[in-house]
Amino acid sequence: MFKLTLAEFTLEHFMQHYWQQRPVVIRQGFKQFVDPISPEDLAGLACEESVDSRLVYKKGGKEGETWQAETGPFESYDHMAKTGWSLIVQAVNHWSPEVAELVKPFAFIPKWRLDDVMISYSTPKGGVGPHIDLYDVFICQGSGRRQWRVGDRGEHRQFAAHAALLHVDPFEAIIDVELLPGDILYIPPGFPHDGVSLETSMSFSVGFRGKSACDMLSGLADHVIDKELGSTLFSDPGRPIHKNQGQINASDFAHIKAQLQSILDDDTLVADFAGGFLSRTKCQLDLQALDEPLDEADLLNTLKAQPLVRTGGLRCFYVDATVGEGVCYVDGERHALGAKAQVAVKALCDHDTVSHTQLRGGLKNPEFVAALTVWVNAGYWYFED
Ligand code: SIN
Ligand code: CO
Repeated sequence: MFKLTLAEFTLEHFMQHYWQQRPVVIRQGFKQFVDPISPEDLAGLACEESVDSRLVYKKGGKEGETWQAETGPFESYDHMAKTGWSLIVQAVNHWSPEVAELVKPFAFIPKWRLDDVMISYSTPKGGVGPHIDLYDVFICQGSGRRQWRVGDRGEHRQFAAHAALLHVDPFEAIIDVELLPGDILYIPPGFPHDGVSLETSMSFSVGFRGKSACDMLSGLADHVIDKELGSTLFSDPGRPIHKNQGQINASDFAHIKAQLQSILDDDTLVADFAGGFLSRTKCQLDLQALDEPLDEADLLNTLKAQPLVRTGGLRCFYVDATVGEGVCYVDGERHALGAKAQVAVKALCDHDTVSHTQLRGGLKNPEFVAALTVWVNAGYWYFED
């Protein structure tokens, strides 16, 4: 259990003045911080095919040092030197319930904005080099000390230090600090930064994503095509005589925009697109399907005795435009579970752990019980014991 402590300002102040605007160091944001995973277990995860991981280090040569990156899965780390390298493992919250606990203190930002918890194990002098991220990140320092430099937003030349490493030119620091266990460095997108480990250390990066309009439009186009929507043809009965044949005139232009706008004005369509698109996971989930599937009666009985836990990294959301029909979006799929399931659907999406009492309204709905049984049997939600 991690509790975020802000000594110098309130959360409201943070959101108003720092979030998406400027980097800040939160000293002892986590008091008495204990790493939720050991370096050995992290190294073990990076040996798994289904886990995204990288080793980053510098290789010395006659012409100086060059950056190197290897992608996992790894078979061993015997070839690594004592110093100067980092192991970076993506989405560890999907694989370790203890690491997933690190997401909870950041519940003041909605889950659809969350990306993942990336962990870096670094030997002394290890780091990934100076770079810019497109993400907001809370870098939580675990065991060991690390020096962080952060520069200002602006024109920074980026270049490939290695095919897998986009770096930036040297920058002037606006923050230059040594992070100790429990300290947090928040960095919004666009600020160059560079962390160098002063000793063997662990860093836990809770990252938040934002999609570009280009990403969203391309996803919306896929949704419209998949669902065979928006197929009504441009139509212009009774149009006046056109004067300049080569011109798309103002009235036609307005008509074209209106045709496109009608897609965006359809709240149900956009809700279904956004819910499906944003609930898709980027990294694989650790889904443990039950060896002996439960039937609906078993599920209801077990739920009376113990709560259901959502598997780490599973994304499930509701949107006001459609939740009235009990619609939720789970791992990219839309499920309509009936108007009476509305309160239960909200509970399922809002809380990582849900009890029989919280789901009671939905449990009277056969669609809801059927969907929940499928999800539990597939491992999306699980009973701890
Ligand atoms: C790291 O932890 O090594 C890199 C984190 C970051 O710069 O985003
Ligand atoms: Co970064």
